[in-house]
Order: sequence, then C-alpha cells, then structure tokens
Amino acid sequence: MFRKFLPVILVIIATFSILSQAPAQTKKVDAEGHEWWQHAVFYEIYPRSFADSNNDGIGDLNGIASKLDYLKDLGVDAIWITPCFPSPQVDFGYDVSDYENIDPMYGTLANFDTLQQEASKRGIHIILDFVMNHTSDQHKWFLDSKSSRTAPKRDWYIWRDGKGPGHPPNNWISTFGGSAWTLDPMTNQYYYHFFYAQQPDLNWRNPAVKDAMFDVTRWWYDRGVAGFRLDAVDTLFEDSKLKDNPVLPGTNKLGDPNMDNVYNTKLPEVHDVLRGLRKVADQHNAVLIGETWTKDVSELKRYYGGHNNELQMPMDLMFARVDKLSPPEFRRQIAAVDSAGGWPVFVISNHDIARSYDRYGDGVHNDAIAKVMAALYLTLRGTPIMYYGEEIGMTNNDPTRKEDVKDPIGRTGWPEEKGRDGERTPMQWNGEKNAGFSESQPWLPVSPSYTTHNVASELEDPSSILQTYRQILALRHKNAALLDGEYFALNVKDPNVLSYLRRYKDQAVLVVLNMSGQTQDVTFDLTPQGFQAKSAHTLLNTSGTKSPELSLSHMSLEPFSAYIGSVSK
Ligand code: GLC
Ligand code: CA
Repeated sequence: MFRKFLPVILVIIATFSILSQAPAQTKKVDAEGHEWWQHAVFYEIYPRSFADSNNDGIGDLNGIASKLDYLKDLGVDAIWITPCFPSPQVDFGYDVSDYENIDPMYGTLANFDTLQQEASKRGIHIILDFVMNHTSDQHKWFLDSKSSRTAPKRDWYIWRDGKGPGHPPNNWISTFGGSAWTLDPMTNQYYYHFFYAQQPDLNWRNPAVKDAMFDVTRWWYDRGVAGFRLDAVDTLFEDSKLKDNPVLPGTNKLGDPNMDNVYNTKLPEVHDVLRGLRKVADQHNAVLIGETWTKDVSELKRYYGGHNNELQMPMDLMFARVDKLSPPEFRRQIAAVDSAGGWPVFVISNHDIARSYDRYGDGVHNDAIAKVMAALYLTLRGTPIMYYGEEIGMTNNDPTRKEDVKDPIGRTGWPEEKGRDGERTPMQWNGEKNAGFSESQPWLPVSPSYTTHNVASELEDPSSILQTYRQILALRHKNAALLDGEYFALNVKDPNVLSYLRRYKDQAVLVVLNMSGQTQDVTFDLTPQGFQAKSAHTLLNTSGTKSPELSLSHMSLEPFSAYIGSVSK
C-alpha cells in the first residue's frame, strides 16, 4: 500500500520544499523580463475630488470603488491614491496623523478592503502614498515628542536650541514659506519642518523611526497594496551639523530669500533608506514610485540605484516641466531619460502641477493639443502616470479671490502664488449638477468647463479627448512595439514635428506628432532601423484624414495632430 503511494508522497515533499524556498511571492515577468508595472498604466486619484458617494461634498473610497469599471474601460491598470489616512488636512492629507487607518471623511478600513477586492477582481492594483518625511503635528509620535525634552520619542523629530532669543538654529526656509523652524514654547526648543509647521520632519537618523516607518509599508502590503508612491523623498535627511544654506539673489513667490538647499535636500543617506524600502517591497512583489524632483538625468539615475536596487519608478518630473509644445525640448528630455538605463516614468501633470490642458494649450486648439500630448506620453518607452481628469481635458480652475483659496500656500503667496486648488477640482462626470461629482456643494468649485468636458458627453463623441485616450491605451495594451519596443528618434532636426519609432523585433510603430499650428509635410526613411516599408498602416489619426495607409515618402499632417501607424519589414 505504502509503496504504491511513495512516488506521490515524494512529489508532494519535493514540491513543498521548492515552495518553501521560494520568495514570498514570485515575480511575474514576460519574455522580455518586464514586470507588471512596466506594462501597466497608472492613474493618480486625488480622493477628495474624484467621486463623492455619501454626498458631503468630499470624494471618498466608496466613490472610487463606484468608478472602477470606468477606469478599467479606460485602460487603467493601477491607481495611486494620494493620502487617504487620518489627517487634520492642513495639507489635504499630506499631514498624516495615523499611517494605519483611513480618514473617516474617506471611509473606513473595511471600505478600503472592499475597494482593494473590487479593484483586484478587475486586475487593478492599488498604490498608496507614503508620506515619509514628516507626520502631522497631531500624530501621537509628535505629541509624545513635544511633551518634554526627555520624552521617549523626543528624538523621533528634529529638535534644537535656537541661536538666541528669536533666532532659529539656522537659515533654512520652509518650501511653504517662512523659517523651517518653529519654536515650541513648552520645552523652549525649535522643531524642523521642510513643509508647513503642522508637518514636523521625522528624524530618519533614528533607527526606531526607520523601523516604525518600514513596518507601515509591511502593514499595507499585507492588506494587499501593490506599492507606494514615496512622497518628498529628497527631504528625508538634513546635514547633522545643520549648516546654513547658501543664500541666492532674489526672493521666491512666497517672499522668502532664494536658497540653495544643499544641506537639507538630496543628502546621500536618502539612498540607504530607499535601498531598505526596496528590499521590503521586493518581498511583496511591490513597486516603489518616487516623487523625484531632479535637475538632470544623472540625478534621476541615482534614484534607480546602482544595481537597480532603489526605486523601480522614479518619476521623470523634468518631462512634466517642459512647459511648451516644443519638439526639440521633448526630444532632448526623452533621449536623456531613455539613455539613463532605467525604466522611464512619464508624467504630464499632477496635484502639484497645473493641468497639462492649460500648460500646453494655446487657448484655441486645446482639445487637439491634449490629444497630441496623450499620443506622446502614452506611446513612449516607459510607464505613464495619468492624472485624473487629464483624459477628459480638465482645465485648471484657479481661485480668483484670496478668501476662496483652500491650499495654504495660495493664501501665503497670493496673488503671485495662487496655490494648487486649480488642479485639484472635482472630476467632471457629466453635465448635470456639480458635474455629477456630488449632490452637495463640492469642497472646491467645479471648473466651468464641465458643460463641454465631462465623461458622459465625451463617451458619446467618437472624436473626444476621452475616446482618444481610450483608443491609445487599448493599442498600448496589445501592441508589442508599444509595450516592449526600443525608442528611435526620427527626423531629429524638425522643429515642428516630433516623430519616433518604437521597434520590437520585426514590428514597429511610428508616432508622428505635429506640435505646430500649420500643416506639416514629413518624409520618413526607416531603412536605418531595418524597415523597407513604403507606407504605414494607420492605427490612430487625430486629424480628419481617415486613410488606412499613409505614404512614408509624403505624409501630410494637419495642425496639432497625432498619427500612430504600424510599419512592417
Ligand atoms: C509632496 C506632495 C505635495 C505635498 C508635499 C508635502 O510634494 O506631492 O502635495 O504638499 O509633498 O507632503
Ligand atoms: Ca464623501
């Protein structure tokens, strides 16, 4: 009897021992060695403004859950939700008072779990925002820390004596205005905050801080999140001697002296923390996205880590900084990031950057330009992160009166700096009351553009911005050249038309973007890339021309139009 079952038992034992040696989760990679996040399309949701399920004027997790089918149909594979944790909301969630819960205004942990399960059913990953540099001043860690000079968590934050009465420890300036030091009269010491005074910086040199924060990521991974967007990574460490920063000429929009933040940003120690976080992420097959403000590609490169052991997805925010429709400028940025060796991450706007619709639009052809921009960042080699509402051409809706401003920096800096309310307005779902976002008065006014730019009406219109996004994303998900192909810049001297080829084995996709207001005639010779084809087979054309094939020796492009075509050998 026993002998009969022996082989089966041996197989079971062998399988069991293989499984027990395997890492917690095995990474799925495709034939090219690409991981899920390299083929995924990410979508940033500002939860206050996405969808309000209980009609209190503020979006919430159940609201997001109710729109998962919309996101799936659009072609979204992962959503990054900006902070939804308990918070006094001084910086609208970027001041976290409890890392392991959900703010009641957004719902409950049970709602989060439901959202997670519903998303997972649709193959959508959830990415949370990890606010690492600072907590809220109402976090229990800070309440303990400020309670006395000998409190157990005193050293979890950065406390120092002033230089004398009314004189903070050094000249560092908060990026949100004024000194980066606030005196706490109780213990008569200053604490440091790179952002608002209600956002005290954690002391990452203290191993207990590091352990507690790493555990936060484990806690959410165990709940099913697929990764984190790491907030303000530049600012984690400060010079231990607190040297004054060099003062530069002039003042900024908030009226403070310009400074070169050499002693409180981008310290090398940041990378030790990123390597540590990556180890934890790897145990959970998770992805780390970085809010990486960099001045050049060599800085960006460092965030990937010398052995690709830091962030998988440091955002290329230099790309988002190209503020004009300039083929030479985009070409330069793309070539730089493409040659950096890591996997590029493209962003054109977010909750801190004015909407792309206005930044690139000329005021007349904005819809056409929005489609050109979509065809750009969704067809490059790399992963795009969309910002909610970009797909319907949402505008910035800046406050016109100081008393309406919600973002504190807009009040400090008014009128030069109007704050970030304009790019955070409610999602425009339809042409009805409050754009279908909520039954009640939304926390920020809906942009007047909702009558013409909303999901419901754009779904009906085959030539809308939304339909263009859907078409490009559908192509991107199935086309091997768009997913895995190399990038080749074409016609690199053309000042008006940005063209490139994505090549994968014997297939290629040609992308031609007329960024000018005039018709442009272009010619392509793809023999250097190994293609003898005389014409391209149209996959998408945002202009009126609907020919299924376009000749490569004479291609005429309407003003502000995008052409995507496949080419074969
Ligand atoms: C990041 C966030 C921004 C926030 C700041 C402070 O820059 O994107 O919205 O105000 O960090 O946490
Ligand atoms: Ca609500």
